[in-house]
Amino acid sequence: MKNILVTGGAGFIGSNFIHYMLENTDHFIVNLDSLTYAGNLENLADVSDNKNYLFVKGDIRDKELVDKVFGNYSIDTVVNFAAESHVDRSIVEPEIFLTTNVIGTQTLLNAAKKNWNLRGDDKYSREYKQGVKYIQVSTDEVYGALGKEGMFTETTPLSPNSPYSVSKASADMLVKSYNTTFGLPCVITRCSNNYGPFQFPEKLIPLMINNCMNNKSLPVYGDGMQIRDWLHVKDHCSAIAAVLEKGRIGEVYNIGGNNEKANIEIVRLIIRKIGRSDNLITYVKDRPGHDRRYAIDNTKITSELGWSPSYTFEQGIAETIDWYLSHREWMDKIISGEYLSYYDKMYNT
Ligand code: NAD
Ligand code: TYD
Repeated sequence: MKNILVTGGAGFIGSNFIHYMLENTDHFIVNLDSLTYAGNLENLADVSDNKNYLFVKGDIRDKELVDKVFGNYSIDTVVNFAAESHVDRSIVEPEIFLTTNVIGTQTLLNAAKKNWNLRGDDKYSREYKQGVKYIQVSTDEVYGALGKEGMFTETTPLSPNSPYSVSKASADMLVKSYNTTFGLPCVITRCSNNYGPFQFPEKLIPLMINNCMNNKSLPVYGDGMQIRDWLHVKDHCSAIAAVLEKGRIGEVYNIGGNNEKANIEIVRLIIRKIGRSDNLITYVKDRPGHDRRYAIDNTKITSELGWSPSYTFEQGIAETIDWYLSHREWMDKIISGEYLSYYDKMYNT
């Protein structure tokens, strides 16, 4: 049984991952999350009493706290999801992306180095024999943008274009340096765009579903022909679990499900499923520096670790739209800001 520190577990992917791990393993999970606007404990309300789960409110940049968490709960594994994650926000306010995504990662790495007594590049140390102990959850956006042809492989050079993707690429390089310099038993995963339950409605799919439900206009950036490679969040979670179990230390694994779609296709599909009209589509000013296309070559993780996605896009998006339609209260609380008081109600009474 592992004692896993999951950072950013109250966000979209982190909360899905915690559900996945509690359902599929006996590991003990400590969720360290500072509850920014994107952190929502209601995502985890159904597991708050689970004996294998504990929530700690705190910032990954807080050295003392992170160190205390490692010591108090004998943390032997870290999965780092905590991040500022929205490209548009990074264009308006880059600084917090650097402090959280880069300095926060470094704080976790240092705590791991100290608490796991990492001495150097000792490939035969006790830590190495225990397998992967640190996963840095990264993104395909670190590779930059593709033209019409080609896919990102793990050896594609990093060429990030937004402050968000630069901060993620920087964190990746720091993680790699802790492997090379201190022998940190780590893996970096780079996943394509996720969709599914509990995604904050600033991202394309939940935003369009919410606006459709409320008959509001659907803001499509530029010509809407930018391409993303979509993966259901549960498939991302099972991929991370596979990396934790069987990943090779020091490696990068791309994660994707071969589902390239243009933004406008997705918007039209949501309109059709919810029964609205294309008249809701409004083409708006393009995002500055907008990456045109992402596509993941998933050969390494599928062939080496035997992982494969379980959802087709058609099935996954239909289920996801149904989920948002049947969880209107979850969405309404976010839109009204009411979800922000959940922590006080749950923990400060
Ligand atoms: P999210 O924005 O929904 O959640 C981020 C979580 O991190 C929130 O709960 C927030 O409160 C927490 N957090 C932020 N700053 C923190 C800090 N300083 N200390 C502690 N907690 C903090 O993000 P997400 O979409 O769930 O993404 C999770 C991770 O996966 C990120 O690292 C992101 O870069 C990566 N990723 C996301 C996608 C995607 O499509 N969403 C794809 C590939 C990789
Ligand atoms: P997003 O969900 O923000 O993810 P990312 O930028 O990390 O890929 O956006 C997905 C795509 O949708 C991206 O090409 C930008 C586009 N987009 C819109 O056209 N309109 C919107 O309102 C949003 C939020 C995104």
